[in-house]
Amino acid sequence: MDRIFSGIQPSGEIHIGNYVGAIRNWVKLIDRYDCIYCVVDYHAITIEYDVTLMQKRILETATILVACGLTPDKCIVSVQSHIPEHTELTWIFNCVTPVGELERMTQFKEKGRRHRHNVNVGLLDYPVLQAADILIYKAGYVPVGEDQVQHVEFSREVARKFNARFGKTFPEPQVILSEAPRIMGTDGSAKMSKSLNNAIGLLDPPEMIWEKLRTAATCEHRQRRTDPGHPEHCNIFTMHQAFSKPDQISFVDQQCRTAGIGCIECKEILFRNMKEELEPIQARVRKMNGTPGYIIDILKSGAARCKTIAGEVMDEVRTKVGIKPSWL
Ligand code: TRP
Repeated sequence: MDRIFSGIQPSGEIHIGNYVGAIRNWVKLIDRYDCIYCVVDYHAITIEYDVTLMQKRILETATILVACGLTPDKCIVSVQSHIPEHTELTWIFNCVTPVGELERMTQFKEKGRRHRHNVNVGLLDYPVLQAADILIYKAGYVPVGEDQVQHVEFSREVARKFNARFGKTFPEPQVILSEAPRIMGTDGSAKMSKSLNNAIGLLDPPEMIWEKLRTAATCEHRQRRTDPGHPEHCNIFTMHQAFSKPDQISFVDQQCRTAGIGCIECKEILFRNMKEELEPIQARVRKMNGTPGYIIDILKSGAARCKTIAGEVMDEVRTKVGIKPSWL
Protein backbone atom coordinates (compact mmCIF):
# COMPACT_ATOMS: atom_id res chain seq x y z
CA MET A 1 0.00 0.00 0.00
CA ASP A 2 1.16 3.54 -0.71
CA ARG A 3 2.13 5.48 2.36
CA ILE A 4 0.52 8.67 3.62
CA PHE A 5 1.92 11.07 6.16
CA SER A 6 0.29 14.12 7.64
CA GLY A 7 0.81 16.26 10.71
CA ILE A 8 -1.20 18.44 13.05
CA GLN A 9 0.18 20.97 15.50
CA PRO A 10 -0.74 20.67 19.17
CA SER A 11 -1.22 24.42 19.36
CA GLY A 12 -4.37 25.15 21.30
CA GLU A 13 -7.79 23.74 21.08
CA ILE A 14 -8.78 21.67 18.02
CA HIS A 15 -11.79 23.28 16.33
CA ILE A 16 -14.30 22.19 13.73
CA GLY A 17 -12.19 23.86 11.04
CA ASN A 18 -9.34 21.45 11.80
CA TYR A 19 -11.80 18.59 11.96
CA VAL A 20 -13.51 19.24 8.63
CA GLY A 21 -10.40 20.48 6.83
CA ALA A 22 -7.98 17.80 7.99
CA ILE A 23 -8.92 15.06 10.45
CA ARG A 24 -12.13 13.93 8.76
CA ASN A 25 -10.27 13.53 5.45
CA TRP A 26 -7.54 11.59 7.14
CA VAL A 27 -10.09 9.10 8.43
CA LYS A 28 -11.37 8.48 4.89
CA LEU A 29 -7.89 7.39 3.79
CA ILE A 30 -7.00 4.81 6.42
CA ASP A 31 -8.47 1.83 4.60
CA ARG A 32 -6.76 2.56 1.29
CA TYR A 33 -3.33 3.68 2.45
CA ASP A 34 -0.68 2.90 4.98
CA CYS A 35 -1.17 6.05 7.09
CA ILE A 36 0.96 7.80 9.67
CA TYR A 37 -0.63 10.77 11.44
CA CYS A 38 1.62 12.76 13.68
CA VAL A 39 1.26 15.39 16.39
CA VAL A 40 4.04 17.75 15.35
CA ASP A 41 5.24 19.23 18.61
CA TYR A 42 8.61 20.42 17.25
CA HIS A 43 6.75 22.59 14.77
CA ALA A 44 4.60 24.05 17.53
CA ILE A 45 7.56 25.42 19.49
CA THR A 46 8.69 27.67 16.63
CA ILE A 47 6.30 30.34 17.91
CA GLU A 48 5.54 31.58 21.43
CA TYR A 49 3.75 28.92 23.50
CA ASP A 50 2.87 28.02 27.06
CA VAL A 51 5.37 25.44 28.31
CA THR A 52 3.11 24.34 31.18
CA LEU A 53 0.28 23.48 28.78
CA MET A 54 2.26 21.82 26.00
CA GLN A 55 2.23 18.23 27.28
CA LYS A 56 -1.50 18.42 27.94
CA ARG A 57 -2.09 19.72 24.42
CA ILE A 58 0.00 17.02 22.80
CA LEU A 59 -1.99 14.32 24.58
CA GLU A 60 -5.30 16.05 23.94
CA THR A 61 -4.55 16.35 20.23
CA ALA A 62 -3.57 12.69 19.99
CA THR A 63 -6.69 11.69 21.94
CA ILE A 64 -8.90 13.64 19.54
CA LEU A 65 -7.29 12.00 16.51
CA VAL A 66 -8.03 8.55 17.89
CA ALA A 67 -11.55 9.55 19.01
CA CYS A 68 -12.28 10.80 15.47
CA GLY A 69 -11.55 7.32 14.13
CA LEU A 70 -7.78 7.19 13.60
CA THR A 71 -7.55 4.02 15.65
CA PRO A 72 -4.35 1.99 16.06
CA ASP A 73 -5.75 -1.03 14.22
CA LYS A 74 -6.08 1.11 11.06
CA CYS A 75 -3.19 3.60 11.15
CA ILE A 76 -0.30 4.93 13.18
CA VAL A 77 -0.74 7.91 15.48
CA SER A 78 2.51 9.28 16.83
CA VAL A 79 4.21 12.31 18.36
CA GLN A 80 6.99 13.84 16.28
CA SER A 81 9.50 14.36 19.10
CA HIS A 82 9.24 10.70 20.14
CA ILE A 83 11.04 9.76 16.91
CA PRO A 84 14.36 11.65 16.88
CA GLU A 85 14.99 10.64 13.26
CA HIS A 86 12.67 13.49 12.17
CA THR A 87 15.12 16.09 13.47
CA GLU A 88 18.16 14.08 12.47
CA LEU A 89 17.02 14.02 8.84
CA THR A 90 16.18 17.74 9.10
CA TRP A 91 19.86 18.48 9.68
CA ILE A 92 20.90 16.59 6.58
CA PHE A 93 18.19 18.31 4.54
CA ASN A 94 19.39 21.66 5.91
CA CYS A 95 22.62 21.01 4.10
CA VAL A 96 20.95 20.73 0.67
CA THR A 97 18.54 23.67 1.20
CA PRO A 98 19.36 27.22 0.08
CA VAL A 99 18.45 29.83 2.72
CA GLY A 100 16.88 32.00 0.02
CA GLU A 101 14.21 29.43 -0.71
CA LEU A 102 13.14 29.33 2.92
CA GLU A 103 13.02 33.11 3.13
CA ARG A 104 10.59 33.14 0.22
CA MET A 105 8.05 30.78 1.82
CA THR A 106 4.65 32.42 2.30
CA GLN A 107 4.05 31.07 5.79
CA PHE A 108 7.50 32.18 6.97
CA LYS A 109 6.88 35.71 5.74
CA GLU A 110 3.44 35.80 7.36
CA LYS A 111 4.54 34.37 10.68
CA GLY A 112 7.64 36.53 10.58
CA ARG A 113 5.39 39.57 10.43
CA ARG A 114 3.07 38.32 13.14
CA HIS A 115 5.87 37.27 15.51
CA ARG A 116 8.29 40.08 14.72
CA HIS A 117 9.95 39.85 18.15
CA ASN A 118 10.74 36.13 17.68
CA VAL A 119 11.81 35.33 14.13
CA ASN A 120 13.91 32.36 15.16
CA VAL A 121 15.86 29.93 12.98
CA GLY A 122 13.29 27.22 13.72
CA LEU A 123 10.58 29.32 12.10
CA LEU A 124 12.72 29.67 8.99
CA ASP A 125 13.60 25.98 9.02
CA TYR A 126 10.00 24.87 9.58
CA PRO A 127 9.49 23.61 5.99
CA VAL A 128 12.67 21.54 6.16
CA LEU A 129 11.42 19.78 9.30
CA GLN A 130 8.11 19.21 7.52
CA ALA A 131 9.95 17.71 4.52
CA ALA A 132 11.82 15.42 6.90
CA ASP A 133 8.53 14.38 8.57
CA ILE A 134 7.23 13.18 5.23
CA LEU A 135 10.39 11.76 3.71
CA ILE A 136 11.70 9.90 6.77
CA TYR A 137 8.86 7.47 5.97
CA LYS A 138 9.25 7.82 2.18
CA ALA A 139 5.58 8.80 2.11
CA GLY A 140 4.20 9.38 -1.39
CA TYR A 141 1.04 11.27 -0.41
CA VAL A 142 0.30 14.10 1.98
CA PRO A 143 -3.33 15.05 2.72
CA VAL A 144 -3.42 18.75 3.59
CA GLY A 145 -5.41 21.92 3.02
CA GLU A 146 -4.62 24.64 0.50
CA ASP A 147 -2.40 26.53 2.96
CA GLN A 148 0.09 23.65 3.13
CA VAL A 149 0.49 23.03 -0.60
CA GLN A 150 3.59 25.20 -0.83
CA HIS A 151 5.22 23.23 1.97
CA VAL A 152 4.57 19.92 0.25
CA GLU A 153 5.94 21.31 -3.01
CA PHE A 154 8.99 22.37 -1.07
CA SER A 155 9.41 18.83 0.26
CA ARG A 156 9.38 17.57 -3.34
CA GLU A 157 12.15 20.04 -4.08
CA VAL A 158 14.15 18.75 -1.11
CA ALA A 159 13.71 15.16 -2.30
CA ARG A 160 14.87 16.16 -5.79
CA LYS A 161 17.93 17.97 -4.46
CA PHE A 162 18.90 15.11 -2.17
CA ASN A 163 18.39 12.52 -4.91
CA ALA A 164 20.41 14.56 -7.40
CA ARG A 165 23.32 14.96 -5.01
CA PHE A 166 23.39 11.55 -3.30
CA GLY A 167 21.49 9.18 -5.59
CA LYS A 168 17.82 8.18 -5.84
CA THR A 169 16.55 7.76 -2.30
CA PHE A 170 13.26 9.61 -1.78
CA PRO A 171 9.95 9.71 -3.66
CA GLU A 172 8.53 13.12 -4.56
CA PRO A 173 5.44 13.36 -2.36
CA GLN A 174 2.11 14.46 -3.83
CA VAL A 175 -0.60 16.53 -2.17
CA ILE A 176 -4.01 15.03 -1.54
CA LEU A 177 -5.97 18.27 -1.35
CA SER A 178 -8.77 18.45 1.17
CA GLU A 179 -11.93 19.10 -0.83
CA ALA A 180 -13.80 20.34 2.25
CA PRO A 181 -15.09 23.90 2.09
CA ARG A 182 -13.09 26.23 4.30
CA ILE A 183 -15.03 27.14 7.41
CA MET A 184 -14.46 30.69 8.60
CA GLY A 185 -14.64 31.84 12.21
CA THR A 186 -17.96 32.65 13.86
CA ASP A 187 -17.25 36.30 12.97
CA GLY A 188 -17.64 35.21 9.36
CA SER A 189 -14.58 37.09 8.18
CA ALA A 190 -11.36 35.58 9.57
CA LYS A 191 -10.04 32.02 9.42
CA MET A 192 -11.28 29.99 12.38
CA SER A 193 -8.69 30.17 15.12
CA LYS A 194 -8.65 29.80 18.88
CA SER A 195 -6.54 32.91 19.29
CA LEU A 196 -9.06 35.04 17.39
CA ASN A 197 -11.83 33.86 19.71
CA ASN A 198 -14.02 32.87 16.75
CA ALA A 199 -13.66 29.09 16.93
CA ILE A 200 -16.12 26.31 17.67
CA GLY A 201 -14.09 23.78 19.62
CA LEU A 202 -14.47 20.12 18.74
CA LEU A 203 -14.88 19.48 22.45
CA ASP A 204 -17.22 22.39 23.20
CA PRO A 205 -20.34 21.20 25.04
CA PRO A 206 -23.57 21.41 22.98
CA GLU A 207 -24.90 24.48 24.86
CA MET A 208 -21.71 26.35 24.05
CA ILE A 209 -21.84 25.32 20.41
CA TRP A 210 -25.41 26.55 20.17
CA GLU A 211 -24.53 29.86 21.80
CA LYS A 212 -21.66 30.36 19.34
CA LEU A 213 -23.83 29.40 16.36
CA ARG A 214 -26.77 31.50 17.52
CA THR A 215 -24.64 34.63 17.61
CA ALA A 216 -22.48 33.74 14.59
CA ALA A 217 -22.31 36.04 11.56
CA THR A 218 -24.51 35.14 8.57
CA CYS A 219 -24.85 36.56 5.08
CA GLU A 220 -24.54 40.32 5.63
CA HIS A 221 -27.17 41.11 2.98
CA ARG A 222 -29.83 39.51 5.09
CA GLN A 223 -30.66 42.17 7.67
CA ARG A 224 -34.30 41.28 8.23
CA ARG A 225 -36.15 38.00 8.37
CA THR A 226 -37.93 38.93 5.13
CA ASP A 227 -34.73 39.68 3.16
CA PRO A 228 -33.69 36.92 0.78
CA GLY A 229 -30.22 35.62 1.67
CA HIS A 230 -27.18 34.53 -0.30
CA PRO A 231 -26.01 31.13 0.93
CA GLU A 232 -22.83 31.39 -1.15
CA HIS A 233 -21.78 34.33 1.04
CA CYS A 234 -22.80 32.74 4.32
CA ASN A 235 -20.41 30.92 6.62
CA ILE A 236 -23.35 29.09 8.21
CA PHE A 237 -24.16 27.63 4.81
CA THR A 238 -20.52 26.53 4.46
CA MET A 239 -20.93 24.72 7.77
CA HIS A 240 -24.12 23.09 6.45
CA GLN A 241 -22.09 21.77 3.54
CA ALA A 242 -19.73 20.20 6.03
CA PHE A 243 -22.27 18.79 8.49
CA SER A 244 -25.72 18.45 6.88
CA LYS A 245 -27.23 15.86 4.57
CA PRO A 246 -27.60 16.68 0.84
CA ASP A 247 -31.39 17.14 1.01
CA GLN A 248 -31.04 19.46 4.01
CA ILE A 249 -28.37 21.46 2.22
CA SER A 250 -30.60 22.04 -0.80
CA PHE A 251 -33.52 22.78 1.54
CA VAL A 252 -31.72 25.55 3.45
CA ASP A 253 -30.17 26.84 0.23
CA GLN A 254 -33.57 27.31 -1.37
CA GLN A 255 -35.32 28.49 1.81
CA CYS A 256 -32.63 31.10 2.49
CA ARG A 257 -32.77 32.51 -1.05
CA THR A 258 -36.55 32.88 -0.84
CA ALA A 259 -36.63 34.04 2.79
CA GLY A 260 -38.65 30.92 3.51
CA ILE A 261 -36.88 30.28 6.79
CA GLY A 262 -34.97 32.66 9.00
CA CYS A 263 -31.34 32.44 10.08
CA ILE A 264 -32.22 30.98 13.46
CA GLU A 265 -34.17 28.08 11.94
CA CYS A 266 -31.30 27.50 9.54
CA LYS A 267 -28.84 27.48 12.45
CA GLU A 268 -31.04 25.07 14.41
CA ILE A 269 -30.87 22.50 11.62
CA LEU A 270 -27.10 22.92 11.46
CA PHE A 271 -26.78 22.64 15.22
CA ARG A 272 -28.66 19.33 15.35
CA ASN A 273 -26.40 17.86 12.67
CA MET A 274 -23.22 19.14 14.25
CA LYS A 275 -24.28 17.80 17.61
CA GLU A 276 -25.08 14.41 16.14
CA GLU A 277 -21.63 14.15 14.57
CA LEU A 278 -19.60 15.57 17.46
CA GLU A 279 -21.30 13.92 20.42
CA PRO A 280 -19.92 10.40 19.80
CA ILE A 281 -16.43 11.86 19.34
CA GLN A 282 -16.74 13.81 22.58
CA ALA A 283 -17.97 10.70 24.39
CA ARG A 284 -14.93 8.72 23.19
CA VAL A 285 -12.61 11.54 24.31
CA ARG A 286 -14.21 11.53 27.78
CA LYS A 287 -13.82 7.77 27.99
CA MET A 288 -10.17 7.90 26.93
CA ASN A 289 -9.48 10.72 29.42
CA GLY A 290 -10.80 8.40 32.10
CA THR A 291 -8.11 5.82 31.30
CA PRO A 292 -4.96 7.87 30.52
CA GLY A 293 -2.92 4.70 30.01
CA TYR A 294 -4.86 4.01 26.83
CA ILE A 295 -3.56 6.93 24.74
CA ILE A 296 -0.08 6.57 26.21
CA ASP A 297 0.04 2.95 25.01
CA ILE A 298 -1.14 3.98 21.56
CA LEU A 299 1.60 6.63 21.33
CA LYS A 300 4.27 4.25 22.61
CA SER A 301 3.44 1.63 20.03
CA GLY A 302 3.03 4.34 17.37
CA ALA A 303 6.55 5.60 18.12
CA ALA A 304 7.94 2.06 17.99
CA ARG A 305 6.33 1.36 14.62
CA CYS A 306 7.56 4.70 13.26
CA LYS A 307 11.05 4.10 14.57
CA THR A 308 11.38 0.84 12.70
CA ILE A 309 10.75 2.61 9.38
CA ALA A 310 12.58 5.83 10.24
CA GLY A 311 15.63 3.99 11.56
CA GLU A 312 16.05 2.08 8.30
CA VAL A 313 15.68 5.17 6.16
CA MET A 314 18.11 7.09 8.35
CA ASP A 315 20.62 4.28 7.96
CA GLU A 316 20.30 4.44 4.21
CA VAL A 317 20.67 8.23 4.32
CA ARG A 318 23.79 8.10 6.48
CA THR A 319 25.32 5.63 4.07
CA LYS A 320 24.42 7.74 1.03
CA VAL A 321 25.89 10.94 2.46
CA GLY A 322 29.05 9.13 3.48
CA ILE A 323 28.92 9.44 7.26
CA LYS A 324 28.03 5.87 8.21
CA PRO A 325 31.06 4.09 9.64
CA SER A 326 31.44 0.39 8.88
CA TRP A 327 31.23 -0.52 12.59
CA LEU A 328 27.83 1.12 13.33
N1 TRP B 1 2.66 22.49 8.78
C1 TRP B 1 1.48 21.69 8.97
C2 TRP B 1 0.33 22.57 9.45
O1 TRP B 1 0.56 23.55 10.11
C3 TRP B 1 1.70 20.57 9.96
C4 TRP B 1 2.71 19.59 9.49
C5 TRP B 1 3.94 19.39 10.02
C6 TRP B 1 2.56 18.69 8.42
N2 TRP B 1 4.58 18.39 9.35
C7 TRP B 1 3.76 17.93 8.37
C8 TRP B 1 1.53 18.44 7.50
C9 TRP B 1 3.97 16.97 7.39
C10 TRP B 1 1.74 17.47 6.52
C11 TRP B 1 2.95 16.74 6.48
O2 TRP B 1 -0.80 22.25 9.21
